[in-house]
Amino acid sequence: MLDGMGQSSAAEHAEYRTRQREQWAISAQAWKRWWARFEEGAGALSKRIVSAAGIEPGMRVLDLCTGLGEPGLRVARAVGSAGRVVGADLARPMLEFARERAAEARLSNISFAEMEGEHLGLAAQAFDAATFRWGPMLMDDPVASLREVRRVLKPGARLGVSVWGTGKEVPFIALAGIVAEEIGGIARPPPGTPGPLRMGRAGELETALADAGFTDVRCEAVEVVMSFTSAAQYVEFTRDASTTLRQKLDQQPEAVRTGVWKELERRAGELAETSGELRLSNRCWCAGARA
Ligand SMILES: C[S@@+](CC[C@H](N)C(=O)[O-])C[C@H]1O[C@@H](n2cnc3c(N)ncnc32)[C@H](O)[C@@H]1O
Repeated sequence: MLDGMGQSSAAEHAEYRTRQREQWAISAQAWKRWWARFEEGAGALSKRIVSAAGIEPGMRVLDLCTGLGEPGLRVARAVGSAGRVVGADLARPMLEFARERAAEARLSNISFAEMEGEHLGLAAQAFDAATFRWGPMLMDDPVASLREVRRVLKPGARLGVSVWGTGKEVPFIALAGIVAEEIGGIARPPPGTPGPLRMGRAGELETALADAGFTDVRCEAVEVVMSFTSAAQYVEFTRDASTTLRQKLDQQPEAVRTGVWKELERRAGELAETSGELRLSNRCWCAGARA
């Protein structure tokens, strides 16, 4: 767990971010490959985030941890030609794909910048609103990054933000970790470790927002359904997109690796419909808050 204040802690934080940057750079290709499937499930959540952020035409908006440009591109459409969006992310390859997607969509009011969420190189009070989809739980210090977002927002401006729920509520992510632990002996990260399922308990996001100085915090649960044509396709997706798990498994003997993926397919198959289609319902928390 990264906490504390001293010099070694600062070095740990820097090392953690370097690792994050490398991991996400590797993941970028996989995210691009699975993008359409992902966005199919995530569209409803993005709508809620945009509404929670109070986006209106003409606004200047920050989209932090923009990844391949979401929900930044949606926001760019909403703010129109008089508005501007800055999509910020740690991983350059993610931003390159985001730029490609913006160009394909002929959106010229969005630009992208390489930045760390805990240290935004942006002027104070420069934005009318911010969006932050699936980012806070990945930060080594979520409250510090939310404080940074508040710093660059004008007083009274709104943030729309989301995190995943707990492992039990997010089978699409958690199932692979459970099987890897049971079959491959790969321990799941201890609670508090930065990662997708780290801020999923009810109330956690609200507390972090309040600790960062936001007010008027309102949070709701939103269902995100991830659909796959089959259990095999879900495994293919997981092998491709779960960089950390794949790297851990790569250090295991071939038999263990094969065993984990086979068992994951079997378990996912149990959840599939009679047609073979797999529709995994997952909980997200979506909050709106005022700077
Ligand atoms: C789960 S993806 C979400 C991307 C996008 N917002 C979406 O919802 O599709 C997380 C993104 O956060 C970025 N990220 C992770 N840690 C970061 C940090 N400390 N500062 C800035 N970006 C970070 C990653 O590079 C990745 O693109």
